[in-house]
Amino acid sequence: MNHPPVSLQIEITTGTRTVLLDQTQQMLPLTEVLRHIGLPLNTRCGQRGKCDGCLIDLLRGKLIHLVDGEIINAGNPLLSVRACEYRVTDPQNSPPELRICVPARSLLAYEPQVLKDYRISVPFSIFPLWQQIPVQRQEPDEHSATADGAAHYLKQSLGLRSTPIVTPAALQQWKQNRGVSKVWAVLQYQPSGWSITAFEQEPVRQPLGAAIDIGTTTVVALLVDLSTGQVLAQAANFNGQINLADDVVTRISLCGQDPTMIARMHEAVCEDTIVPLLRETLEIARVPADTSLQAVAVAGNTTMQHLFAGADPSGLGTVPFTPKFLEYLHLNGPRVFTVAKNGSAPAQAVHLLPSPAAYVGADLAAGILASGLIYDDGPSLLIDIGTNGEIIFKKQDLLLGCATAAGPAFEGAGLACGMRAGDGAIAYVHLKTDPLQIQTRRIGENGYAAGLCGSAYVDFLAEARRTGLIDTMGRFDLQAVPDAQAHIIAWRPRRSSVEDRAMVLAYGQAKRPIVVAEADIAVLLSSKAAIAAGIMILMKRAEVTPAQIKRVYLAGGFGTYMIAANAIACGLLPGFTPEQIVPVGNTSLAGAYLSLVDASAMDEIRRLARCVQTLELNLDPEFETTYIDQLALPEVRPT
Ligand code: FES
Repeated sequence: MNHPPVSLQIEITTGTRTVLLDQTQQMLPLTEVLRHIGLPLNTRCGQRGKCDGCLIDLLRGKLIHLVDGEIINAGNPLLSVRACEYRVTDPQNSPPELRICVPARSLLAYEPQVLKDYRISVPFSIFPLWQQIPVQRQEPDEHSATADGAAHYLKQSLGLRSTPIVTPAALQQWKQNRGVSKVWAVLQYQPSGWSITAFEQEPVRQPLGAAIDIGTTTVVALLVDLSTGQVLAQAANFNGQINLADDVVTRISLCGQDPTMIARMHEAVCEDTIVPLLRETLEIARVPADTSLQAVAVAGNTTMQHLFAGADPSGLGTVPFTPKFLEYLHLNGPRVFTVAKNGSAPAQAVHLLPSPAAYVGADLAAGILASGLIYDDGPSLLIDIGTNGEIIFKKQDLLLGCATAAGPAFEGAGLACGMRAGDGAIAYVHLKTDPLQIQTRRIGENGYAAGLCGSAYVDFLAEARRTGLIDTMGRFDLQAVPDAQAHIIAWRPRRSSVEDRAMVLAYGQAKRPIVVAEADIAVLLSSKAAIAAGIMILMKRAEVTPAQIKRVYLAGGFGTYMIAANAIACGLLPGFTPEQIVPVGNTSLAGAYLSLVDASAMDEIRRLARCVQTLELNLDPEFETTYIDQLALPEVRPT
């Protein structure tokens, strides 16, 4: 029997649409119906009922649950449901009118996308942490005749879970604007919900925000148009704290020994690093340099979050590793950044993403969402190769995390010719033998090779071991490869009086040799061992083998350029196959961006940060021996 069509009215911010659903469409989840008519929702979890990205309001009529067949009716209070879990009811069960509202925050803004050096693997909406919404001030007795009425109106129209709080300053402005027919409510995301912080007579013409990833070694900033989610500019530089100490542990212990170091570290990352980066992005986007951003979202490891906030990290240095805070923080911009003479700070509000634990930071919480791991039933791994190698294991609802002190080598710091992945960096190395030929490729078209980035070092370790040019302990074996000696020079590392041997891979400007020294190899092997041992112990505790892992999401700047087979061959990713590896780039930056432009992503990161169980590797009895075993390069199998 053919069903007659069902009429569906859909309220969206720009008006109301009515569609007639035929029999086939009546059986589809509402998310599919809406997608077919050009209103795709933010189905971040792949329509599995695991996120709230697809929430809609049922205003009139009934819907039926796709799995258990339960019928729900519109009523008071307003019923919000996940559109992926419901379909329309059969026509004989349907009242003449079925009406739903799709709030702006549930509409899809972008499909997953790959950008320059970060990838967002989940869909998202544009519903930023800072918003300005027009409110018509009505005659007395109408819904927005009072500030509270306006707050209630905003809750309804934006589909918020609770009524935003009107701050005293906003209330004052409301009273001052008596007689003005239209005002702009400024809404800010806060730990306990949304607040209305102002009622302005004019909107901000181009509200701006920034997403910032604070790595131990490098810091990256994105300038974002908050009204569209568009990334206007990107800038990166070394974290100014490396002038004070290279790694996290030393920075913590310096702060423990001398409390004045906390302020110096804070200044080094905020004033010396982030403020110039923000200025650079403003300049690229041709925005006045003294513009104050409406909102900044920041992700970093727990120590970086502490130092950014000016909090004492010394509790993170010793067992039981007690942080001052882990939860999401909303900070006043002028409290974090130095205020200029004209009274403005580089940003008005800072949103610090939450961290799961002392050594599993907000950067990883951001990555769990941005990489899509959160919606992967696993068993899968997320590995973020930075100065602090952080690893998450996921299987169904279990999230298990650990961190390992890898050092900054794979970010190019501390090596003879190391640099970040960027223009001029050699990113690929391939060796041919008989006679030895060294092939390299660099990032960018112009200029000279400037140095080697992490992926090139991974290639070198794998290729040099494959050809026998280095032995399992990382020493050059010049007898093994004809003509190898011709590429070797004596090399004196900076701050050392002892000469070392180094292999010239290429020449840069003014014939400057770009080399890998034996001392570099030792540092790289130590980093590789720390990461490999962390992965192995985590898998052991989770009782899985590499072959059982479905996907290895590989995060970190250099993952974008790295050849997975070489990371496996040199033992950095021990026991996996290239098919398992999914490079996802800088997921900390991607997660900071997501939470800046989509408040529901921030909600999700706050939720998942509480779910991660952590493993303290330095308390694990097997970690040290596993680390020592992994210091060697793998034996080469005869071909
Ligand atoms: S898409 Fe519906 S809950 Fe995630």
